[in-house]
Amino acid sequence: MTARLIDGKAAALSLREQVRVAAGTFAQAAGRRPGLATVLVGEDPASAVYVRSKIKATGEAGLESFHHKLDDATSEEDLLSLVADLNADERVDGILVQLPLPTQIDAAKVIDAISPDKDVDGFHALNAGRLATGLDALVPCTPLGCLKLLRAELGDLSGKNAVVIGRSNIVGKPMAMLLIGESATVTVAHSRTADLPGVVRQADIVVAAVGRPEMVKADWIKPGATVIDVGINRVLTDDGKGRLVGDVAFSEVSQVAGAITPVPGGVGPMTIACLLRNTLVAAHRRAG
Ligand code: GUN
Repeated sequence: MTARLIDGKAAALSLREQVRVAAGTFAQAAGRRPGLATVLVGEDPASAVYVRSKIKATGEAGLESFHHKLDDATSEEDLLSLVADLNADERVDGILVQLPLPTQIDAAKVIDAISPDKDVDGFHALNAGRLATGLDALVPCTPLGCLKLLRAELGDLSGKNAVVIGRSNIVGKPMAMLLIGESATVTVAHSRTADLPGVVRQADIVVAAVGRPEMVKADWIKPGATVIDVGINRVLTDDGKGRLVGDVAFSEVSQVAGAITPVPGGVGPMTIACLLRNTLVAAHRRAG
């Protein structure tokens, strides 16, 4: 291994501690703690794990947590009605509806119904548009976490060649907007990109967010590049237990890259820390 390991766990702990201190100050001034409402619809086991870690981290940071667990058969109307209640609830600064939602519910409609001021996921079109136009926005937690890791590793990102692999609304697109905001030169590559390895080889910064286990190989990487792996893929092992791997073939890429995030312990912990940070930011903005 030649690459420096980017310790997302340590960076996340430090951000969570900053949020905890600032949340205490907020609570003293406002007479209430910043509040995060989480909504989980159905029984998806991975979603249940993610939401549980978000609730635990919320409590540890001294934020108020309001959890709503809804049945798998919940109607769109009922979920929209819960969102309307949370929008109107003065104790709630942030609303997180865990995705994916069951098929009878249109996720886009639900995201659109969340008050943009409480949209701590940064998924609402108003926040996406504000980010794209360089205005103050609530920014999606995973790309924000990636940016914080990149800034800590590299400092100024201006003029760097960045390749984002993946064009999702949750990671790829907002990641590209954030990197443009840092004056990087940004390419968004995806499943239809011609000569993907050749495109990635130009990159000083690679952000992999495609959801394909170990797709990015060592010979795609410019020596010394910084590699951020957003993937969390469970793959089966011979003992039948399974293990988590990223979108990057870690053992080979770490021989070529200058710095790399591990999976787990890289981007994942930063996503949760940024959710707490966004909730605090939303609380301050709402308090005026
Ligand atoms: N599902 C996977 N990632 C996320 C996320 O960041 N936020 C929400 N709400 N759902 C998700």
